[in-house]
Amino acid sequence: MIILIDFGSQTAHLIGRRIRELGTEVLIVTPEVAMQKIRSFSRQRRDQDDGRVDGIIFSGGPASVYNAPRYKKRRDIIASDYEKGAPTIDPEVFKLGIPILGICYGQQLICQLLGGEVKAGFKKEYGPAILELKNQKIKESKLLEGIPDGITVWMSHGDEVIKVPNDFETIATTKTIPHAVVENKNKKIYGIQFHPEVVHTEFGTEILENFLKICGLNPKRSTIDEKFVENIIKDIKDSVGREKAICALSGGVDSSVAALLVHKAIGKNLIPCYIDSGLMRDGETDTLRGVFAKHYNMDIKIIDAKKEFLKALKEVADPEQKRKAIGKAFIEVFERLAKESGAKFLVQGTIYPDVIESAGTKHARVIKSHHNVGALPKKMNLALIEPLRNFYKDEVRKIGKILGLPEQILNRQPFPGPGLAVRIIGEITEKKLEILRKADKIIQQEFEEADLEKKLWQVFAVFTGIKTTGVRGDERAYGETIAIRAIEAQDAMSANFAKLPYELLEKISTRIVNEVREVNRVVYDITNKPPATMEWE
Ligand code: XMP
Repeated sequence: MIILIDFGSQTAHLIGRRIRELGTEVLIVTPEVAMQKIRSFSRQRRDQDDGRVDGIIFSGGPASVYNAPRYKKRRDIIASDYEKGAPTIDPEVFKLGIPILGICYGQQLICQLLGGEVKAGFKKEYGPAILELKNQKIKESKLLEGIPDGITVWMSHGDEVIKVPNDFETIATTKTIPHAVVENKNKKIYGIQFHPEVVHTEFGTEILENFLKICGLNPKRSTIDEKFVENIIKDIKDSVGREKAICALSGGVDSSVAALLVHKAIGKNLIPCYIDSGLMRDGETDTLRGVFAKHYNMDIKIIDAKKEFLKALKEVADPEQKRKAIGKAFIEVFERLAKESGAKFLVQGTIYPDVIESAGTKHARVIKSHHNVGALPKKMNLALIEPLRNFYKDEVRKIGKILGLPEQILNRQPFPGPGLAVRIIGEITEKKLEILRKADKIIQQEFEEADLEKKLWQVFAVFTGIKTTGVRGDERAYGETIAIRAIEAQDAMSANFAKLPYELLEKISTRIVNEVREVNRVVYDITNKPPATMEWE
């Protein structure tokens, strides 16, 4: 087993997933309890295969090692470091003889605790970098065995290691950082500044696979199968029993898969509904009605709540306030429904990136409150069932496929729960929604015609709230700016903007300014994630 210490990383769970995909058990723990867990496993199971700690991974994290006081005694950590928000760990961990891999903050922590030096980076680095291997050293490095020179790796850091501990060697660098991969091969302690767990890092899985081999394990790649899905259904059955549950379908893949799982578990005791918040894209509600009627053998309740949502959003401009107002409005509708039907449970299609961005784990920071997680009110009269809480979108699609979900839903582009509200900067008004819907419809049509829609994670329009000057028919015009966002990704943790043909961008831009009178400028968003998120709010 691998113990994964979560220092608050956005991607700690993704590291766990990669390790599990390699057929190895992982236990994710907070730094506060890590040593106690490692010791208790080592004591109890020294001679057993099951549950033995074979390796330890330190995740990344948002804090700055640079600001953290040096570790002295266990008592000091609790009193100082944790409260200052820079989690650390008892250096005894390095004496256990168990291989350790530190990623990002994890690497910096290893170097600082063992006598190296970390500095706030002059050049903060987010997104792609090229890894340069140190040729003489690499031949002997087991961590980078079989990894070619010049691969693209994904960075997301402000601080960096500027001096490695005495008994460490640097085996790879990038143009901006001198110590991208460091190791002490005798003690089997390794540190890497980039993120091998995100799909945008080339050979990331192979690097993790190499670490598992260093731990004496025999990694094998595994998959989601029917048995796996049956177990999820059984779990739901056990927790809901004979009670009723309501589920809000959005037409997206997550809520559809969640609903199907619960339907298989409790049958008619599931009450599926679709809430029209008025924040949907053009024609969305009608399309969804059609899809549901055709493919689901379920009686879906359609609730028109447009007025309620617009009222809740009146004069709200702050993105987090918007998300919370929408979350609250959804819950009010659910609670009404629950009262009418006597349901005790609420099914949500929350997936892992929603949880982590809402700071669902101890040391993680809030990036945005996903309406179905961080935006839920503290007191709620419904218990939650979130069968997909531990999965990523591509895994959800695999589960959906096993459940027989039609292609049309399975491969739909994701659409955020708070809908167009997070694609309009500033206050939401009916007028802005109307402008955005028109521009977005043109974008959807053109991508479909160019047959690009299925290759992209998402493509959509953003109402930027910026007015600029234009000229139309010799007259001065002062109008809105629409941004186009088109991204490629495999899970929601990292993404790159799509390199689209200029002709397509020009066609879209021309159509938007000609067909949507209020708009006189169109821009293309060329930012990756990180540092940007996919949605603008
Ligand atoms: P970001 O903008 O965080 O988005 O990079 C990652 C993916 O998640 C979707 N998204 C949401 N989905 N509720 C959802 O169900 C939400 O509150 C939410 N916010 C973002 C987004 O569309 C993208 O695919």
